[in-house]
Amino acid sequence: MSRILVIGAAGQIGTELIEQLSIQYGKDRIVGADLNPPDALPDIRDYVKLDVLDKEALAQLVDQHEIKIIYNLAAVLSATAERIPEKAWNINMGGLFNVLELAREKELERIFWPSSIAVFGNSTPKADTPQQTITEPSTVYGISKLAGERWCEYYHEKYGVDVRSIRYPGLISYKALPGGGTTDYAVEIYYKALEEKPFQCFLNPDTRLPMMFMPDAVRATIELMQAPPENIKVRSSYNLAAFSISPADAAESIRKHLPDFEITYEPDYREQIAGTWPHSIDDSKAREDWNWQHEYDVDSMTEVMLRELSGTRVNSNQSD
Ligand code: NAD
Ligand code: SER
Repeated sequence: MSRILVIGAAGQIGTELIEQLSIQYGKDRIVGADLNPPDALPDIRDYVKLDVLDKEALAQLVDQHEIKIIYNLAAVLSATAERIPEKAWNINMGGLFNVLELAREKELERIFWPSSIAVFGNSTPKADTPQQTITEPSTVYGISKLAGERWCEYYHEKYGVDVRSIRYPGLISYKALPGGGTTDYAVEIYYKALEEKPFQCFLNPDTRLPMMFMPDAVRATIELMQAPPENIKVRSSYNLAAFSISPADAAESIRKHLPDFEITYEPDYREQIAGTWPHSIDDSKAREDWNWQHEYDVDSMTEVMLRELSGTRVNSNQSD
């Protein structure tokens, strides 16, 4: 039985991706791996401690579990990467190389590796940012994602590796906390709102960024991986979008349910990072090539976020 390996499985995306993959393919077919496995392991047969930079251990794992498909989510995200640039570069690039090389050597069936809106920079058109445009990122994280995209395309063209990728926008979720990104405020804000505490935001009120609710992001990932190879025309990474919001927009959406919610603004270095990223994304290639469609907008997401985090039902309409 061929199996699917998720590396970085304990993170914000991995936690939910593993859950969905287990539902679709069966718990026995999923292997989770992370440098720091979570205390409460998910309901799958195998979960291992692994450093994606240890190629030998990774190769052994692939052989031992008859792995044919790898999702490599292990990375250092944008805000943390600015504090540890060399380490971030090594993990983000070294991990991808190890996985691409194993895919080539062992003729693996398919690889997923996520890129980000961080590949864009100040010189990129900020509204409806096209699939192909100027990419001059100014963060360590963005540089690593851009280089990674080029390597993915190279391994596909040169060695026929079936590697697929999405430039995720900022992801908002309630099952696992985010891991050190510039868009993390958009998760923290819901926790604070439910604690009935004012939220101090590290971005400016009007800093608008592309965002997506995690169920859409996980569905997009699995749909991309299930699409026939001939449909995948972009082998660097696909633009992907749902909605765009600023911190003020997020607060307004929350106030539809919690009218007393207060937000204050104390922008820090993350505002500088966010200021170089697009306001909105043109994802028409993903929609054309593999029929991507998002489900959640900001208000339908807010309703689920507040309901799931509070464990109680939140009114869907203020006038209810
Ligand atoms: P995260 O920080 O929540 O999770 C990353 C996981 O990788 C962590 O559990 C960490 O322990 C693990 N890890 C780190 N170094 C490792 C190593 N050397 N070996 C094995 N595991 C290691 O990140 P996430 O939000 O789940 O993001 C996953 C991927 O998606 C990353 O490539 C990230 O750049 C990309 N992405 C995320 C977002 C987002 O908003 N969450 C947006 C765009 C792109
Ligand atoms: N959400 C991610 C970050 O802020 C974008 O890649 O780092």
